[in-house]
Amino acid sequence: MSTIQERYHQLHPTSARKFEEARRLFPGGVTHDTRRVTPFPVFMTHGAGPLKWDVDGNEYVDYVVGHGALLLGHSHPKVTAAVAHQAGRGTHLGGSTELETAWASGVQRMVPSAEKVRFTSSGTEATLMALRLARAYTGRNKVIKFEDHFHGWHDYLIKGVQPNTSGVPDAVVDTVYVAEPNNIASVERILAQDPDVAAVILEPTGAHMGLYPVFPRFLRELREVTSRQGVVLIFDEVVTGFRTSNGGAQALYGVKPDLTTMAKVLGGGLPGGAVAGKAEILDMIGHRDDPEWNARHRVNHPGTFNANPLSAAAGSTALGIVEQEPVNARAEAAARRLRQGLNEVMRSLEVPGLAYGVTTCVFIAPGVPGEVDADGVCTIPHDKLRSVPPAVFAASKRALLNAGVDCMGGRTFLLSCTHGEQEVDRTVAGFEQALAAMQQEGLV
Ligand SMILES: Cc1ncc(COP(=O)(O)O)c(C=O)c1O
Repeated sequence: MSTIQERYHQLHPTSARKFEEARRLFPGGVTHDTRRVTPFPVFMTHGAGPLKWDVDGNEYVDYVVGHGALLLGHSHPKVTAAVAHQAGRGTHLGGSTELETAWASGVQRMVPSAEKVRFTSSGTEATLMALRLARAYTGRNKVIKFEDHFHGWHDYLIKGVQPNTSGVPDAVVDTVYVAEPNNIASVERILAQDPDVAAVILEPTGAHMGLYPVFPRFLRELREVTSRQGVVLIFDEVVTGFRTSNGGAQALYGVKPDLTTMAKVLGGGLPGGAVAGKAEILDMIGHRDDPEWNARHRVNHPGTFNANPLSAAAGSTALGIVEQEPVNARAEAAARRLRQGLNEVMRSLEVPGLAYGVTTCVFIAPGVPGEVDADGVCTIPHDKLRSVPPAVFAASKRALLNAGVDCMGGRTFLLSCTHGEQEVDRTVAGFEQALAAMQQEGLV
């Protein structure tokens, strides 16, 4: 019987060859850090609904779903038609469009804190702009973030994300405090010591899309403390926006931040981001009838592809569907079934572990027993979750691909509204094969 690695080579010969070419073109042979798979990544050709296919003709149930962007699945017919229509009418009109107002109206209607909206080209740009706005609005410089919380790859919020990156100036690193999630005292201590904090930012369901969960109680505590101290509270809803509920995590938990950053689902599968929130903060970008104020306080924000017509067409169409159809409920029902199925497999193979996650996100912690609380939030402490050796997830990624399932990093499954019972049951059967293979190799 072949090992996981041998089977991976047998199933993916064309991908292995393509990777040789890619290695000569790209550093590390890939175009995104999380697309790295050892010994080589699978090269994908196309997708439809919950499925995608690779260059060797293998079919996968897809849980990467465009790094979380495809809540509507691959190639939703209405989104595809809107993009094709706009592509024939111009991909960049270099001016204002009705598409961008339709897109922003969808954001405003669904996201409780979105009084005004500014589009960017990515989530990274959205958090960058949110910080600049918070600094301009408060006249302060520093920011508090949380261990492992990811807000894009720019310098200003990369501290505290594993693995560390080089190339960030010390002066920038010194503007960031990294606090302990779910521990309001750790935030209060910093605020008591330093009056120069402009903003607190977090992923509202927890670091890495909810992998290391945040309790809803902590969101309420943060809201209270930041309001008291005049600090801007930023929810980074790049993943959770329109996914955790159609109004994001803030609607699910009833906590209104001052600013919200969004991307992924927002763009309907095309590049796009936004910062939205209190009008008086967003209006720092607007010109006033006061040249002196404009010169001293205004926040600049150009950007060639801000609200570009293709993303606006895809995004406004996608948000319309999210608003009018029960897509969140469908994706959530599939996620519930998946969590249950994965937990049953771990039980039946006698592997301690937990499948968890809120609404449409599912994570596995093989080897780590645990439970969820009354809010459905996993209570396994962060250090225990982090203690699973990376080799386990590397093997899990390969073993799941061998079984026709593609998830992020071997542990994160993001659902779309096109994942039905059939795909979920197929995934659970694939997970059983993968886990049994990992067991055989002594990994779990
Ligand atoms: C919570 C969060 N914020 C920001 C980003 C950065 O978004 P983008 O990759 O669009 O720059 C990501 C990307 O995964 C994310 O997960």
